[in-house]
Parts: sequence; structure tokens; C-alpha cells
Amino acid sequence: MLILGIESSCDETGVALVQTREVQDLPVLLAQCLYTQAAMHEAFGGVVPELASRDHIRRVVPLVEQVMASARLPLSAIDVVAYTKGPGLAGALLVGAGTACALAASLAKPVMGIHHLEGHLLSPFLSDDPPEFPFVALLVSGGHTQLMLVNALGNYQLLGETIDDAAGEAFDKSAKLLGLGYPGGPALAAIAMHGKSDAYAFPRPLLHQPNLNFSFAGLKTAVLTQCKKSGYELPQHQADIAASTQAAIVEVLVKKSLRALEETGTRRLVVAGGVGANRDLRQQLTAAAQRKGVTVHYPQAEWCTDNGAMIAMAAAMRLQSGVEQALANYAFDVLPRWPLTHVSSVAE
Ligand code: KG4
Ligand code: ZN
Repeated sequence: MLILGIESSCDETGVALVQTREVQDLPVLLAQCLYTQAAMHEAFGGVVPELASRDHIRRVVPLVEQVMASARLPLSAIDVVAYTKGPGLAGALLVGAGTACALAASLAKPVMGIHHLEGHLLSPFLSDDPPEFPFVALLVSGGHTQLMLVNALGNYQLLGETIDDAAGEAFDKSAKLLGLGYPGGPALAAIAMHGKSDAYAFPRPLLHQPNLNFSFAGLKTAVLTQCKKSGYELPQHQADIAASTQAAIVEVLVKKSLRALEETGTRRLVVAGGVGANRDLRQQLTAAAQRKGVTVHYPQAEWCTDNGAMIAMAAAMRLQSGVEQALANYAFDVLPRWPLTHVSSVAE
């Protein structure tokens, strides 16, 4: 069965085609294309929702054509069209949903609306070394920071989450204060390589509280205060602030992830979402996991940030396991706010 996946929840238009084979085999990625709007939004220092929606409209059909051309298959070969139904920017989501439903209707094929975070969470199944259930997932993106216990496909238990800013947001906002471009995470991480991570003792809120929640809102105030105090015009100051900021975020993520493994008695951790591409986070998590004898799975860097492959993969796995059926119902809706624990876990 061939499943086309369309992602358009934020500032990346992603399209991919996966194929399901035998029930016991994981679906295989046949082709994928991605267009990132980052350069367009950079001038505004963040994602402008209306511009994002309009750009998705411009990109999505050519990307579908490109994916089918690179798989050397006609549109008529598609069996199911999947799209990101939420959470995300309403207008941006509507472009993917509308395109998916129009395409499916024209082919008389069923559609499926997929949860964006479930896509991130299942993205390690695109790798050569996929995890086994159960595992703890650290979802760290621009909009979310959550620890989830993944018992089985569709069976997700929220262990803890941020009470204010997301980890990616903390990277982005701190980067902005340091005069770096958008998206700030990769830029801040690059500069941090030249700085001292213990130059400034930035706050690690909730680190010692007996829960699995996070709080990153106070970090930007500390970064702002330090920027005013020492300035960041000198490259060394900028690098030191960046390195200390990254260290504060990474330490909290690592310690809370390990605590989640301990509390649930789970021995596998999956890191997903854009911040999962951060090298320092990977190094420190890997080292800490080795000490504890637990395994960490990282999606390849290209599957950490938003992409169509994870949406097609999530749809394929849901279909294959019988958790959900695709329906020929083209009256689409989107869910800009949609808790992951609300996705269905049993065949309806
Ligand atoms: O998952 P994602 O692509 O989009 C959302 O669904 O939010 O995550 C984007 C976030 C941004 O905040 C970006 O700055 C951050 O991931 N990010 C990074 C890195 N690469 C992307 N943060 C730190 N280090 C990186 N290398
Ligand atoms: Zn995302």
C-alpha cells in the first residue's frame, strides 16, 4: 500500500511517499521532498502565520509532483493520502488538509488526519535502528516540550511538559537576544561551540522539583540581563552567553529524561523534534544514558525537524497495526490545539 504524507503545520512544507509491505515489516520510505520557509520568515524574526499559509499554497502541489516523479509513480498509484491535522497554525494546517482531501477525492482514495507530534514521536522508525515499544519519548520542538511514555502505537501517557516556553522557543528567543537570525536554535548552537558553557550560571528551573515538568520562560530574562551587563558585541561574550544558555537547557532536558526513564522503569529513550538535532544535547544524553545502561534513539537530523516522511510513516504504522482506518470523508477539519493523548489507540 502506498501512502502519501503532507506536512504543513508551521513553516515547512513536507511531502513524502511510504510503502507498507508485510504486517511484520516496518513501512519503507520511497521518496520525500521538503521546502523550508525559514529564509522568508527570517526578516520578521519569527514565523508570520499568514505568510506561512500563502507559501504552503505555492509549494505543496509542486512538491507532490516532485515526490511522485522521484518515486517514478503516477498519482493514481497512491492508496491513502495523509496530512497533518494538528496541532499547528490553523491557516497553514488548512492548506495541507485541503490539498490532501482534494487530491484524495480526485483519486477516489481515502484520507487520514495525523497528529504532528505523533509524527515526531514515530520518526525514529524511519531509521535503520528503530526502537521497540515501550519507550520514553522526549519531544522537544519549537512549540512543545514533553516527556511521554509510549506503551504502544497510539498509547501515549504524558509524564511531564513545559509550563511555559518550549525548549526550542528558549533557544530561539535567546538567539534573538544575541542578535542571531531565525530560527535561532542552530545558530545559537553553532556559536556556543566557541564559548564556555560555565561562563554564566543561568537558571535551571524545576530541576530539583520532584516532577517531570519544565520551565524555560525565566531563561530569556537571565540572558537579557547578561546581554545588557556584558554586551554581546564581542564574539567571545556572545559565544559564552550562547554556550551557557545551551548548557542550562540541555542539563534540564537530560536530567528530566533520565528521571522519566527511572520512574517508569523504561530502558529506552527516543528523542524527537527540532531540538533533538542539537549536538550538545545528543552528546550529553548519550553519555548519561551509557552510565545508566539505557539506550537512546535519535532520528537522523533531517527527520528531527518538520518533514512529510514522519507524517506518512505515522499514517502507515496506524493503518498497518489496525489502530485506524483511512476514510473517504473529505469534509476535513484541522485541530490547531490537539493533545497527543487524545489520538485514538484502538481500531474504531
Ligand atoms: O520540530 P520543529 O522543526 O518544529 C516545530 O514543530 O516546532 O522544531 C523547530 C525548533 C526551533 O525552535 C529550532 O530553533 C530548534 O527546533 N532547533 C534547534 C536545532 N535545530 C533546530 N535547537 C537547538 N539546536 C539545534 N541544532
Ligand atoms: Zn514539529
